[in-house]
Amino acid sequence: MYRSHTCSELRLSHVGSEITLAGWVHRRRDHGGLIFIDLRDRYGLTQIVIDPSQEGVHELAEGVRSEYVLQITGSVRPRPDGSANKNIPSGDIEVVVNSLKVLNPSKTPPFEIDIEKDANEELRLQYRYLDLRRDRMKNNIVARHKIVKTMRDYMDRHDFVEIETPILIKGTPEGSREYIVPSRVYPGKFFVLPQSPQQMKQLLMVAGMDRYFQIARCFRDEDQRGDRQPEFTQLDIEMSFVESEDIMHLTEGLMIELVEKFVPNKKMLKKPFPRLTWKEAMSKYGSDKPDLRFGMEICDVSDLVRGCGFKVFADAVAQPEGVVFALRVEGAAGFTRKQIDDLTEVAKIYGAKGLAYIVLEKSEEGTGAGTGGAGVKSPIAKFFSEEEMKKLVEASGAKTGDIVFFGADTFDVAATALGQVRLACGDMLGLRKGDELAFCWIYEFPLFEYSKEDKRLVSAHHPFTAPMKEDVAMLDTDPKHVRAQAYDLALNGSEIGGGSIRIHDAVEQAKIFEVLGVSKSDCEIRFGHMLRAFEYGAPPHGGIAWGIDRLVMIFQNEPNIREVIAFPKDQKAKDLMMGAPSEIPAAQVAEMHIEVMKED
Ligand code: AMO
Ligand code: AMP
Repeated sequence: MYRSHTCSELRLSHVGSEITLAGWVHRRRDHGGLIFIDLRDRYGLTQIVIDPSQEGVHELAEGVRSEYVLQITGSVRPRPDGSANKNIPSGDIEVVVNSLKVLNPSKTPPFEIDIEKDANEELRLQYRYLDLRRDRMKNNIVARHKIVKTMRDYMDRHDFVEIETPILIKGTPEGSREYIVPSRVYPGKFFVLPQSPQQMKQLLMVAGMDRYFQIARCFRDEDQRGDRQPEFTQLDIEMSFVESEDIMHLTEGLMIELVEKFVPNKKMLKKPFPRLTWKEAMSKYGSDKPDLRFGMEICDVSDLVRGCGFKVFADAVAQPEGVVFALRVEGAAGFTRKQIDDLTEVAKIYGAKGLAYIVLEKSEEGTGAGTGGAGVKSPIAKFFSEEEMKKLVEASGAKTGDIVFFGADTFDVAATALGQVRLACGDMLGLRKGDELAFCWIYEFPLFEYSKEDKRLVSAHHPFTAPMKEDVAMLDTDPKHVRAQAYDLALNGSEIGGGSIRIHDAVEQAKIFEVLGVSKSDCEIRFGHMLRAFEYGAPPHGGIAWGIDRLVMIFQNEPNIREVIAFPKDQKAKDLMMGAPSEIPAAQVAEMHIEVMKED
């Protein structure tokens, strides 16, 4: 028996017992006689004491260093008066060692394991097994397990069957880029890794499985960001004989259960979750995943600036889809020049040509037009009469002490840029509170979006998403404005889930491929298996998938999803620990019937 107890188990009730512990040397303090070691395992810490009178043992303990693996036997005693450690469950006792065995020594770790201070992320990823010994990471991984377990239990309770779907599938490019696996057996042929189990779960509905779920690994060869990984995990769900409402209702129930169980201290702002159409979300918050922890809504001032003296605004609204939007930021008049410049940079990243603004100063010091007692300071004041300026300020709802920012462009650019400025202002003003959770459903997404790269319409979600019934007729006349029976779940400005009602009719599906410009033969090659299946009595069905990594990240207050994944890729999609991707021997390459091109 390696141990009789774990390192967080012993209490005053164990005083006097002989026990055996095994674990790592967390910290070692040599008091020039007594040696104290905090012994650590997954469960916690126990203080062990080695007395100089224990000759062989004391000598061994003098050579012990951080992260050595020890097995000790000793007796439990209360800590002397005043030296109890209230921060750990075993803090009332210590163990006086009478035998000690070094199970394994350790090199000095490349970063401190006993102190929760920021270590270089590259090192942490390279030595992830050491990083995972630290409390923060260990807690994240254990929390993730518990969250996933609760998901499984909830789905099981609601009659869902967990079904594994294949990882080697057929390439059907649409959406993000796929990871490709060459076939050894079939020269020149390839498998791809699934971006999600989308097609399989729909086929499971055709198979009559009725309610499917899976904790599914997905693979996407796309550019990395803080909340993206090339492989990530979804709670993937599909149901038959349902409408959007059924899926939203069922998954909202699970989300509320998770919040109540795992983050009871966080304040859930609205229940049931508010719902916004995509158009509302974009116009009010400039985002299809708005952060609703704070208000700060965008407003449309296009009608007020038509034909005004500021050419930028007047020209923008003269364009076919041109708008001028205003964003009132309460209490921001004190923003420094640098802060305003930073916000202008944010707007520019999202395509804006500039970020005009009006500061409503507390005093009358401002230049230009005055409004209601507030001094106005603005680089565009000179282009407006006092009356016009007053109207603009009124329309935005601004008062003394506020700033109003403006975006003049097409709807998409103006909304998106001001939406990002809104988030940045939220950060600057401390409105994005870590202890609040604001969920919201976004629905009525556009079915298609225009790809500037491909110069054609592409699916906004995926090509199996059903159009809204009332918009079907527009597929021929005005496809760009057809809305989808799709919904996303946003939390604090992150998209944590998305799904839709699917097309279950082969004719309608063929119509969508026609709009997407996929030829009949191409369609057969790529999606023949789906179209064929739909000819054999496919039930009406729909589903959703949640990003588990993102959800756990938000629950655990982590800044990026790498912190909640045991072995993540770095920001350049590399595995620093294993050193992947790597070259493979020439013989192995040849066996796959492929040739590696030499980079110049
Ligand atoms: P979607 O592509 O919206 O839908 O993905 C669902 C959710 O998965 C998460 N997610 C990611 N998380 C980490 N890294 C990534 N690279 C990444 N990409 C997506 C997001 C997202 O909301 N098959 C459809 C679902 C369906 O229609 O049922 C799908 O995959 O939180
Ligand atoms: P300019 O006349 O180019 O110096 O611009 C005057 C102000 O308008 C500056 O604060 C710019 O950042 C801002 N501005 C310029 N173009 C736009 C635009 N398309 N939308 C909003 N503000 C703009």
